[in-house]
Amino acid sequence: MSDTSSARTSPLLPGAAVGVVGGGQLGRYFVLEARRLGFVTWVLDPDANAPAMQLAEYTIVANYDDTDALTKLGTACEAVTVEFENVPAQSLEQLSRLCQIAPSADNIRIAQDRDLEKRTAIQHGLTPVPYATIVYNGDIAEAVESVGLPAILKTARLGYDGKGQVVCHSVADVASAFDAVDGVLCVLERRIELQAEISVILARGFDHDVAVFPVARNVHVKGVLSTSTVPAALDNAVLDNAERQARELADGLDYHGVLAVEFFVDEQGNVLFNEMAPRPHNSGHYSLDATVCSQFEQQLRVLCRWPLGSTALLSPVCMLNLLGDAWVNGPPDWSAAFSKTGAHIHLYGKAEARAGRKMGHVNCLDNSAAAALASAETLLGILSD
Ligand SMILES: Nc1ncnc2c1ncn2[C@@H]1O[C@H](COP(=O)(O)OP(=O)(O)O)[C@@H](O)[C@H]1O
Ligand SMILES: [Mg+2]
Repeated sequence: MSDTSSARTSPLLPGAAVGVVGGGQLGRYFVLEARRLGFVTWVLDPDANAPAMQLAEYTIVANYDDTDALTKLGTACEAVTVEFENVPAQSLEQLSRLCQIAPSADNIRIAQDRDLEKRTAIQHGLTPVPYATIVYNGDIAEAVESVGLPAILKTARLGYDGKGQVVCHSVADVASAFDAVDGVLCVLERRIELQAEISVILARGFDHDVAVFPVARNVHVKGVLSTSTVPAALDNAVLDNAERQARELADGLDYHGVLAVEFFVDEQGNVLFNEMAPRPHNSGHYSLDATVCSQFEQQLRVLCRWPLGSTALLSPVCMLNLLGDAWVNGPPDWSAAFSKTGAHIHLYGKAEARAGRKMGHVNCLDNSAAAALASAETLLGILSD
């Protein structure tokens, strides 16, 4: 099905209505940037209090597959994007018949499924860690044989922040992990020793122009992103390689919008594809304070057919995620946080703090990446006390 039946040819000007499906923190920053630039904003989300719903002029409280709600959104808006990849591809197809959309339903469909995502990445010349697809119990022994141990079983769909993943040390482990997810489609990946994790975020316009943000070096704790530091302090060859692969993937997909590509760097310096997100990414939040144009402004620029903005880095930066864990002993010590020079605090307006829940982030700007990281670590200590 075509995604371009309602595609525009001329740029969309400030004053027009733009929308986002999904009302979490990523949608919230899309709304903030769009409002800053004089657009009228719409958000569709099932939760009336979701972070983006609090800030948009117009909201539609409905499920992502509610066809009446999608018709209302697509009729009210000149252009619509998505906040995350689990919006049904059919919803994007419906919207594409009513207004401009980016990214396409086809590209969203690929990012929804780890198996399809890896196959697509291979097709465009990228290399994932060794993996095998598990459809039935009968696939397990051969998958373990080809992938090796230890391995990680990941559900193909609906995983995020390490959810839906189990580390396995034997065929029996894989079998019980597969049973525990009721035998849904999975991939089994070799668990590799990581020298580093990095992400490349880029924007690709309808004119095929590409702007790449500086590579972020990411540290995950219990599967959840903790810090993203830029510049990434890795060999230039590694950084160039990652950037080249991300560009090849975006060009190969004829991608339109903001695309985040996560890579593993193994101990030999190989840059291996992990996964992609067809949208702005948590590891790109540093761009809100440390690059000329943020990833969210870039999302709007593509959608509205404007030239891409500059991704030049204004300062070394470390983005620190604020998880609900910092609230267990009551609200964090904000006075200490606000008095820290160079720390730019962002909160998402979530009323309830739960362990692991992303409540906000802090962009720590400093003279070097090492100093910015040290500053973020000090701040985490203060906030978690
Ligand atoms: N094959 C692997 N080898 C080593 N670590 C891994 C592997 N797969 C995942 N991880 C770790 O788990 C994190 C989350 O996994 P990922 O596949 O990116 O899923 P999610 O969709 O939850 O982000 C990664 O950022 C990395 O730290
Ligand atoms: Mg990931």
